Amino acid sequence: MPGDIVLLGAPGAGKGTQAQILRQRFGYRQVSTGDLLREHRAKGTELGKAAESFMERGDLVPDSLIIKMVEGELEGPGAVLFDGFPRTVPQAKALDVLLADRGRGLPRAVYFAIERAALEARLLGRWTNPRTGRVYHETFNPPRVAGIDDEDGGPLVQREDDKPETIANRLDVFEAQTMPLVAYYEEHGGRLVSVDATGSVEDVAHQLVHAIGVEHAH
Ligand code: AP5
Repeated sequence: MPGDIVLLGAPGAGKGTQAQILRQRFGYRQVSTGDLLREHRAKGTELGKAAESFMERGDLVPDSLIIKMVEGELEGPGAVLFDGFPRTVPQAKALDVLLADRGRGLPRAVYFAIERAALEARLLGRWTNPRTGRVYHETFNPPRVAGIDDEDGGPLVQREDDKPETIANRLDVFEAQTMPLVAYYEEHGGRLVSVDATGSVEDVAHQLVHAIGVEHAH
């Protein structure tokens, strides 16, 4: 089994879409901090309540809360795809330590390269199955029946943070706080590869499989 992978990219770059594909095809375990936080909010946990105002503004939830939440997800079989985590240099450093403490190697990172101008259209047209995290796009990747998940027939919803003003803040936050991780993974062990995230879903999946070398593992 290949090692743990960090999917690094702006909101709307396609991390969740690709994580689901790799999970289905190669048996990775997906750890999406955005999905976990939305579950906490739906259940009304203390963490969910603490995260709410940050998420509504499109700001990052404090590192200490996120790192504690991820620590609880690390036990279990198989390699992990981290989707939307880490998002700050302190989170990246903490992940390296958490994995080393468990005798796992350092994760490699894949950067999803895409122009900011393409991201708003992706986020404004997104529809999600809140129970499974599966994502669609009304134009680029539509379900067979509008508003209904192809797989479980349940209703699709639009995320409350996919509004123009919140999207703009999320993209600013990404550039300021998460882009430094590109240098972090390059400089700490040459652990970064990039994919061109502007192509079709299948095209990006193809690049990703090559970039992480998973096609040779199965
Ligand atoms: P999170 O849920 O992680 O959202 P995000 O990073 O903003 O990422 P997205 O889910 O918006 O985008 P994606 O790259 O997964 O794109 P997707 O595949 O859906 O985080 C939400 C919030 O939680 C944050 O703002 C923050 O408050 C908090 N949070 C989460 N993690 C945190 C952390 N570690 N630290 C602190 N705070 C944290 O695709 C988007 C759309 O495009 C879809 O409609 C899809 O169908 C379409 N699409 C995908 N690929 C393609 C393609 N190749 N061509 C055309 N369309 C495509």
